[in-house]
Amino acid sequence: MKELKGQDFLGIANFSANDIRDLLQLAGDLKSGKTTITCNKILGLLFYKASTRTRVSFTVAMYQLGGQVIDLNPNVTQVGRGEPICDTARVLDRYLDVLAVRTFKQEDLETFAKFATIPIINALSDLEHPCQILADLMTIQECFGTLSGLTVTYLGDGNNVANSLLLGCALLGINVRFATPPGYELDDKIIEYGRAIAGDRSEIILTEDPVAAVKGVQVVYTDVWASMGQENMADERMPIFQPYQVNGALLNEADPDAIVLHCLPAHRDEEITDAVIEGKQSRVWDQAENRMHAQKALLATLLGLV
Ligand code: CP
Ligand code: NVA
Repeated sequence: MKELKGQDFLGIANFSANDIRDLLQLAGDLKSGKTTITCNKILGLLFYKASTRTRVSFTVAMYQLGGQVIDLNPNVTQVGRGEPICDTARVLDRYLDVLAVRTFKQEDLETFAKFATIPIINALSDLEHPCQILADLMTIQECFGTLSGLTVTYLGDGNNVANSLLLGCALLGINVRFATPPGYELDDKIIEYGRAIAGDRSEIILTEDPVAAVKGVQVVYTDVWASMGQENMADERMPIFQPYQVNGALLNEADPDAIVLHCLPAHRDEEITDAVIEGKQSRVWDQAENRMHAQKALLATLLGLV
């Protein structure tokens, strides 16, 4: 994986299928203790949106690698007062070894990447959430012992998580089905790109029918109906998304051994019922833990420590 040193991770498809397989192997070895890596590198976290899992899992991962973390909260740095990204990027580049950015516009991440030589990591944008999908793939592989021959169904909003999930599954040859209400489909360019990546290795189904989408599948995945920045649309979306709720009846249509994933934070009894998220098929806590292992492997890879 040495060739990935210094590379940016702005979207899941910045990595090849083999890169992701290697990264998942490393993440598993780091989790089990088979591999230990140490460094004295510095990670910056510049988050324009709230975060619990991403912030803490990156911080703990870097501490466990022996490195350090600087929280560049926009409220206490000049970016919050409008310092241009092109200037901020060139300055942070002189101090840090790697920078994770959570922001709205994907173009802002591209600007950071253009003006900084250190690796820039997408810690969530409106378009993609690639770090989340690394942990999701790791969790699926842990549960089924393989990523082959599986079908993943995502229900709800065609958002950042859905976009990265489509690309990640397309890369690894996992069949995917997305059930979204009309008008809330995934990004057109992502769908086109995903189909090009998948070729005839995996099937991508896009539908409005939640019941047909979950029939017999091994993984049922959902996310909030209104993402960060869309809070003012939450009420109008509620009735539109109701048929896509992951509840006991819908889950009964899936494979009896199906697992349930949610990137979290969850709105109980909106996109997922309390009974399902707390139920025996839920793997959301393992999924959240794996954020740390997968991102530790990501940091080690981009920093050239492996
Ligand atoms: N899943 C996820 O990215 O959670 P946070 O928003 O808490 O980081
Ligand atoms: N789609 C959600 C994911 C949160 C981790 C959001 O962008 O708010």
